[in-house]
Amino acid sequence: LLLLICLTTSVAQNYDEAKVPAYVLPPLLKTTAGQEVKSKKMWEDVRRPEILRLFEDNIYGQMPKDYDSIRYTLKNGDRAAMNGKATLKEVAVQVYRNRKSVQINVVMFVPNHAKKPAPVFVLINNRGRENTDPTRKVKSGFWPAEMVIDSGYAVAAFHVSDLAPDNKDTFINGVLQLYPEQLEADNGMKAIGAWAWGASRVMDYFENDKDIDPKNVIVVGHSRGGKASLWAAAQDQRFAVCVTNCSGNTGAALARRQFGERITRINTTFPHWFNNNYKKFNANENQLPVDQHMLIALIAPRPLYATNASKDLWADPTGTFLALKKAEEVYALYGMRSKLPANPPAINAPVPYAPLAYHNREGEHDLTAYDWGNFIRLVRSRR
Ligand code: GCU
Repeated sequence: LLLLICLTTSVAQNYDEAKVPAYVLPPLLKTTAGQEVKSKKMWEDVRRPEILRLFEDNIYGQMPKDYDSIRYTLKNGDRAAMNGKATLKEVAVQVYRNRKSVQINVVMFVPNHAKKPAPVFVLINNRGRENTDPTRKVKSGFWPAEMVIDSGYAVAAFHVSDLAPDNKDTFINGVLQLYPEQLEADNGMKAIGAWAWGASRVMDYFENDKDIDPKNVIVVGHSRGGKASLWAAAQDQRFAVCVTNCSGNTGAALARRQFGERITRINTTFPHWFNNNYKKFNANENQLPVDQHMLIALIAPRPLYATNASKDLWADPTGTFLALKKAEEVYALYGMRSKLPANPPAINAPVPYAPLAYHNREGEHDLTAYDWGNFIRLVRSRR
């Protein structure tokens, strides 16, 4: 009976700040060999690659960069979308490798009356496709395209299931058909890696669209999509800004706090998200050679915006704020001072400024127009 009680308490979710265990985070600025990292050069040449590799090997899996060819096809367009305010482009991005292919369907609006090439917000859509309706019959706060267009920016989206269906039995029916060797490796990419890979292929497309400024691509993701936006921006330094909304465990929140969702739980409910090696850290957070502040640090010196919702304790708003605070020391190597306060700001008191932005919106686990309005503020403030 005692054993049973121990087992159940070890996986129960904690929502009590007083019960957060004492923990020591792995150092950002000390190499595996024990050397202090004191310069941007040493960060970029030694420590950053080391950390990237640790995330690859232990959590998200490898990110294959080779493919045979890529093709972009405009499937549908409308120069007078949104009452003439925007041009709609529906583009198929087809990627080929070993005679297999995947097709990523990109929906995009470009502002007609703003400076071009335009910066673009690209959403990794993990919810229903209706959220990114190209006809605009359905409008959703999850992807408030009109609002982004009115701000003078382009807005794009693609759906995760084009890359890897979000299902433990079918996730292999997508990118992983092109890279079957990934399924054999304990550090092989799975669904979240495949979604991040897709974001990079959409980035490849942006580099070939004259309407878009490829140096100003903002990758946005919510929750599981926010785990993917972080990994995409960590891997692919072409993304200028990363937005991770309510990404929680294995997103922007510190694992060692063991607050809300924990690794055991995420690996059990979603065994198809992370690599096989990650399962070793079930109920064993302290053995992980990384924690999520290190993932955020990989995005430096580029701006990162992490957000939470006050009722979404599952995603640990405080643990997210603390991860950003910990990453400040890497931004400091670039001479950048974060504008974050010392303690988590009040609910609905956003800090939408580069390089590290944060807010805790009142309400539920979601991505809303309020959130997007603040992402736009961040992008405006840095121009
Ligand atoms: C679940 C999961 C989270 C995830 C969320 C979402 O709650 O446990 O890790 O972020 O779904 O994607 O909405």
